[in-house]
Amino acid sequence: MSREKKVPYQRVLIASANPLFGQGLEKMILRQWKDPELQIRLVSSNEAVLIEMQHWSPDLIILDYDDKAISRSEFLQEFVSGDQPMKVMLVSLKSSGAVVVYDRRTLTPAQAEDWLNLPKFSQTASEHSPLQRRSSMKHFVIVGVLIAVFTALTYLLLSNIPLLPIAASVQAQPIDALFNLHIFMISLLFSLIVVFLGYSLIVFRHKAGEEEEGVYIKGNNPLEIIWTVIPLGIVIYFAYLGSVSLAETRRADPQALQIKVVAGQWFWRFEYPDYGIVSNTLVMPVNQQALLKLTSLDVIHSFWVPEFRVKQDTLPGENLVRELRVTPTELGEFKVRCAEMCGTSHAYMESPVKVVTQSEFDQWVQDQLTALGTDPVARGEVWARNNGCFSCHSVDGTPNVGPTWKGLYGSQHELTDGSIVTVDDEYLLTSIVNPNAQVVKGFAPGVMPQTYQDNIPEQQILEMIEYIKSLK
Ligand code: CUA
Repeated sequence: MSREKKVPYQRVLIASANPLFGQGLEKMILRQWKDPELQIRLVSSNEAVLIEMQHWSPDLIILDYDDKAISRSEFLQEFVSGDQPMKVMLVSLKSSGAVVVYDRRTLTPAQAEDWLNLPKFSQTASEHSPLQRRSSMKHFVIVGVLIAVFTALTYLLLSNIPLLPIAASVQAQPIDALFNLHIFMISLLFSLIVVFLGYSLIVFRHKAGEEEEGVYIKGNNPLEIIWTVIPLGIVIYFAYLGSVSLAETRRADPQALQIKVVAGQWFWRFEYPDYGIVSNTLVMPVNQQALLKLTSLDVIHSFWVPEFRVKQDTLPGENLVRELRVTPTELGEFKVRCAEMCGTSHAYMESPVKVVTQSEFDQWVQDQLTALGTDPVARGEVWARNNGCFSCHSVDGTPNVGPTWKGLYGSQHELTDGSIVTVDDEYLLTSIVNPNAQVVKGFAPGVMPQTYQDNIPEQQILEMIEYIKSLK
C-alpha cells in the first residue's frame, strides 16, 4: 500500500551496538521502501550518532531499545529535547519477529506505522488485525459466560445463608427486597473481578520458552469512561431505590395504635396512652400499624426488633421524640434489643415483644386495667409516676423545681401577680393543663410542660388530682 508512496525519511540512522539489530532492521526497511533515494547508516554509540548528525544530518534516528550500551535517557535528552530535535523511534526487535516501538515522542503512531508498515507494530485495539480481534472476542465471550455462571452460583450460595431472621412486619418487605438486590450486586461484582483475574492469570500466564516482554498498554479512554459511568448509574439507582424503600417503611396509617416507647439504662417501658397502660412487654395486635413514639430518659438507645427490620434511635429530650411505624404480620414472641452502645448493661437491654390477635390484645388491655385497681388515689399515683411528675414535685415536702404536693390541697398560695388563691380541684386542673396561668410566687413560669392536656386522658388527670388531695 505505502510502497507507491515516496519515502518520507531519506536518511535513516540506526543506532545499536548489536550489528544484527541494525542489519535486520535495514533489510526490513529496504524491503518496505524500494526507493533509490533511501539511505541507511548504522552506528553503535551515542558519540557516533553525534558525529553523523553533524556531517550527514539524518531525517530519522532509530534507537535499539534493548541496547544497554546506548543510554536511552541521555540519548533522548540530546536528540529529542536538545538543540537539534530529531525524529527518533525507540525500537525493539523480538525473537518472535515482532517489532515493538516503545517511544513515539516525535512520531505519531500513524506516522510510525506508515514508516515500518507492519501490522504487529500497532498496539491500539482498533488497529488489531481481524484475526487478533476475533481471538480477543473469543476471550471476552468465554469470560462473559463464566461471569454469568459464577454470579448465579455466588448468588445462590449467599441467598441460602440465613443472614436474617423471619420477616415479621409489613415494613420488612421493601428492606428485604433491597437486601436481595444488594446480594445480587455483590455476587455480580465479586464474579466480575474474580473471573477476569483468574482467567487472565491462567490463560495469559508466562508459558515456558516465552522470552518476550509484555505489550505496554497505557490508558484506555473508552474503558475508563465505561467503568466510571456504569457504576455511577448503579449507585444512583440504588440511592433511588433506598429512598423509595424508606418512604415505604414510613407510610402512615391514620388508624395506627399509638405506643410510647421509653428507653432508659437499662430497660424498655411501653406506654399505651389510649388505654392508660404501662408495660414492660411490648404487646401489639397483628396486622395493625403501631406508631411508636420513642424517647430516652438518659443516653441514646436504639429500638431494634430484628424481625421487624426497622430500627430507630431513642434520644433524650422532649423535643427529640422519634417515630417508627411497625405493622406486625406474624403472631409470636420476639425481642426488642438495644442497638446503640449505652453502658455496661447494653447487651442485656432486652424486652419481650408479643404479637397477638386483636381479641387477645383487647383481653390483655382489660387485664392490665383490672390489675391497676379501681382506687382513684392509687391509679393517680401511677399516672403521676408515668408522666414524670415526681422529678419536679416532691410528695414529702422536700423543696424541688415545682411546689411540693404534700399538704398542697386546701392551702393558700401567693401567685406571682400578688393575688392569693386557695388550692382546690379547679386550681389544680388549671395548673396541670395550663401551667402558666397561675404561677406560684417563687417559681419560674414556663418550666412545667404545657402539653398534658393533649397527652394525658382527662380521666387520668382527675385521678391524679385525687392522689394530690390525699397527700395531707
Ligand atoms: Cu440501651 Cu444499648
